[in-house]
Amino acid sequence: MKILVTGGAGFIGSNFVRHVLAESDHTVTVLDKLTYAGNRASLDGLPEDRFSFVRGDIADADLVDGLFSAHDAVVHFAAESHNDNSLDDPRPFLETNIIGTYTLLEAARRHDTRFHHISTDEVYGDLELDDPARFTEQTPYNPSSPYSSTKAGSDLLVRAWVRSFGVQATISNCSNNYGPYQHVEKFIPRQITNVLRGARPKLYGSGENVRDWIHADDHSSAVLRILERGRLGETYLIGADGERNNKDVVELILQGLGQPADAYDLVTDRPGHDLRYAIDSSKLRRELGWSPRFADFAAGLSDTIAWYRDNEAWWAPQKDATEARYLEQGQ
Ligand code: NAD
Ligand code: DAU
Repeated sequence: MKILVTGGAGFIGSNFVRHVLAESDHTVTVLDKLTYAGNRASLDGLPEDRFSFVRGDIADADLVDGLFSAHDAVVHFAAESHNDNSLDDPRPFLETNIIGTYTLLEAARRHDTRFHHISTDEVYGDLELDDPARFTEQTPYNPSSPYSSTKAGSDLLVRAWVRSFGVQATISNCSNNYGPYQHVEKFIPRQITNVLRGARPKLYGSGENVRDWIHADDHSSAVLRILERGRLGETYLIGADGERNNKDVVELILQGLGQPADAYDLVTDRPGHDLRYAIDSSKLRRELGWSPRFADFAAGLSDTIAWYRDNEAWWAPQKDATEARYLEQGQ
């Protein structure tokens, strides 16, 4: 297949492109606007005969139309992705996550293109810490933040375009990813790079919030499996049974970098901060035979720490501006 990957210069998109080129014979075109979150360097060194890059906006209907006519399938990662930014200025989230997705769906409808939409477990809201339940494909939508509400809106657009116009789409909702090439605004890279720079990790609130961590390469293998074998019109939850509270993750990072386990600061909590996410991915495992490769979170985190230690040239240009933004927010 010739696959168009939107947002392929971002964290998960760039990991997905590498995965596809390494594990299949497909060719890939990336369409990416290169916002503050996109980095062309995350795609350096890929084989020119199977990979090309187009800089542009998913909301540019003419550009999108031309690209859809030249590809067999589209995997749609492009989004404004950071909750804290969405609390500060929601508008770009509406423009990219809603209008951008709408623009792609209209092109998929015109060209009858196979379309896979990447979404998040945050569309389901949050769970109590002591609740044995996990999210399933049947959990009602209940998003909390401007970011997650625009992702929920984009999922509903995809479902409507499937039902009303017969678009050949699938959706996946994944839990929190970690791994190489993640922007330093996000929790794990922020704390690793703080420690590498001699600063202390910053935990929001009491640090008890739980996230369900999955390595980005496991997310990629699941998405490729759904693209190749998923049932059209279906939603699949992706997760790797990686629940940890934020304090435990920070302690592992400090330990991995030879620092005392309590060398962190508690800072102002995020408004509306979701308490806990947890994914039941049994549908994906049962129907498509998928399973994660990075079963051991501590080992995957240790590889990730090593990657940030070895790739300061990749993250250093973003670090000061990111921390200046957090300082303004008291975080
Ligand atoms: P990211 O912020 O690292 O990357 C987003 C990419 O999209 C960037 O390269 C950016 O330049 C590009 N982009 C933004 N607006 C664009 C536009 N209008 N046109 C073209 N390109 C544009 O995000 P990420 O963490 O890699 O997330 C990718 C996708 O996965 C998102 O849809 C997100 O909702 C979803 N997701 C993320 C996680 C996670 O833990 N990070 C978990 C589940 C789902
Ligand atoms: O669940 C999937 C979602 O995971 C994706 O849809 C989002 O795109 C992705 O950004 C992520 O959202 P979170 O809000 O969970 O991720 P973030 O990295 O911002 O924060 C993870 C947890 O760590 C959360 O409980 C907030 C907390 N946190 C975050 C930062 C940046 C801190 O305690 N300190 C920090 O400095």
